[in-house]
Amino acid sequence: MEELHNLRELSHRSRERIKNLGEVFTPEHYVEQMLDILSEGKKGFWGEENNIFFEPTCGHGNIILPIVQRRLEGLYKKAQSKKIKNPELYAVANTINTIWAIDIDEENIELCRERVFSVFFYFIMDKRKVGIEDLLDSEFDFFVHLLCAIKWHIYENEALSSVSVDEDEAECSSRQTKLSWNWYNKNGFNPIDFSQSWISYFKDCDSKDLEPIEYGRAEKYLNNFLKGSKQGLSHFKFTKKAFTSPLNFEGQLNLEVI
Ligand SMILES: C[S@@+](CC[C@H](N)C(=O)[O-])C[C@H]1O[C@@H](n2cnc3c(N)ncnc32)[C@H](O)[C@@H]1O
Repeated sequence: MEELHNLRELSHRSRERIKNLGEVFTPEHYVEQMLDILSEGKKGFWGEENNIFFEPTCGHGNIILPIVQRRLEGLYKKAQSKKIKNPELYAVANTINTIWAIDIDEENIELCRERVFSVFFYFIMDKRKVGIEDLLDSEFDFFVHLLCAIKWHIYENEALSSVSVDEDEAECSSRQTKLSWNWYNKNGFNPIDFSQSWISYFKDCDSKDLEPIEYGRAEKYLNNFLKGSKQGLSHFKFTKKAFTSPLNFEGQLNLEVI
């Protein structure tokens, strides 16, 4: 039987997942305390565009979500004070392009993307106070980039090898746990380049007159969505909840049927 869980309060899903993945989620109040310590005495920390955040084992997002929320607030305030046009879009774009969140488990990545996308989507909806079609229509290109950026910055990878300097070190690091080693044997070395955000990658491609495959896919998916078709949804499943229940913000953000 399906059960309704509050993802923020859920500390684990099953004994099996604790054993296989070490999956125990950090409660919200601990995350908030950690983030308070991180930013203590650093004025303007959350609104600083040059700060980047790395969550090496993001799970379904219990640490990344409060970071996203603080970044949105900080960057939005800063954009407003500098009279930057569309401060809500500025905040979302700078938040996603400065976060790297990885996890070895595909299911967790999908959930994390879904929760982060919901926060962004409702943040923009709340500031704009328009319907979903109008919003997507007027900010079509922005949303195409947002969908790509979510996939670029939140993705499946292995923590120990991904921060290694070369393949020898990556192999050696990933041998530290059976889980990491199995993943590494299957997927190989995927180093993270923290200087290559989605938007810098897109600009690189653009300067060579190239279009990233993901960009074309996102464009098609959103066009189809606006025409009432679900074609292309399989690549962007993480948008489904936010797009299909735009009025149920709290429910979409916090509650999941798993
Ligand atoms: C203790 S949970 C923490 C999740 C999240 N950070 C939180 O605080 O709620 C550990 C997570 O690490 C992931 N994991 C385990 N080994 C990993 C590895 N070598 N690389 C990346 N992720 C890994 C698991 O899938 C699980 O989601």
